[in-house]
Amino acid sequence: MKNHYEWPIEFYKIFLGETMTYSCADFRNGDDTDLESAQIRKMDTILDAIVDQNSKKILDIGCGWGSTVRRAVSKYGVSAIGIDVSGQQLNYCIENSLDNMSFCDLNLYEYNEPVDGICCIESFEHIKSENYNKFFSLCHKALKPNGRLLIQTQIHEENKINFDLLKFNLWCRKNMMLDLELPQMDQIYDMAKQYNFSVEILNVLDRQYYLSVSEWLKRLEDEKELCINLIGQEEYDYFTYVLRKMGELHEKKLLNIYQFLLKKEEDK
Ligand SMILES: C[S@@+](CC[C@H](N)C(=O)[O-])C[C@H]1O[C@@H](n2cnc3c(N)ncnc32)[C@H](O)[C@@H]1O
Repeated sequence: MKNHYEWPIEFYKIFLGETMTYSCADFRNGDDTDLESAQIRKMDTILDAIVDQNSKKILDIGCGWGSTVRRAVSKYGVSAIGIDVSGQQLNYCIENSLDNMSFCDLNLYEYNEPVDGICCIESFEHIKSENYNKFFSLCHKALKPNGRLLIQTQIHEENKINFDLLKFNLWCRKNMMLDLELPQMDQIYDMAKQYNFSVEILNVLDRQYYLSVSEWLKRLEDEKELCINLIGQEEYDYFTYVLRKMGELHEKKLLNIYQFLLKKEEDK
């Protein structure tokens, strides 16, 4: 099956909505409860954590369709670079880019100018543990001293790994998301320590993942026929199964979503 990030963009527009954000939204603490507002709220929480009044430039690793990069430039007035591995997503980002934004293939990205902040929103799950050193080394090199890195990721709670979860992980890796590897909390702390970052848990999103996925599934169901025309029956069935199952695992608290805020400490 084709990498699902390369499925037609029209398919993603159906359920991700206007912001084209493909990560857990935050429906809490706001008057507006629609998905778009909840996505913007999530992006603002992240950008508030990594941008301050002196910030000039940020980097988004695994930028997807570029929503956080666009928000950073349009609301926070910084310049922003988005990097990703998906050609289709990068093309969309480039077509929809404004001044002060640039986009680049992650594998071609060469750090040349330090940034004030970095975010990585649910892309860390695609980085294999054998490449964590590469990821943290890039972040450490690219960040200015005292710069902040925000990682929003699903976490396997170590004491809660059960057969159902392991079976699902294996199914995903075999059928749809070949590179999926959900980290454990200790792995984040170990890497942070190794690269001299302090770590704080900014937010635990708990039910927010279930709520986001439920909204995506509702939109997919409402446009089922169109979705099947765009991606095919088997792909639709696999994709909705993955979303439902992920939602269920989050509802059971076997998985959770964390926002880790890491600060690059001055080298000793
Ligand atoms: C769940 S999406 C999140 C996209 C975006 N951050 C957002 O919030 O809308 C995960 C993204 O990670 C990208 N990705 C896949 N492998 C990656 C890797 N090794 N390093 C960084 N990003 C990767 C995918 O192409 C995809 O755009």
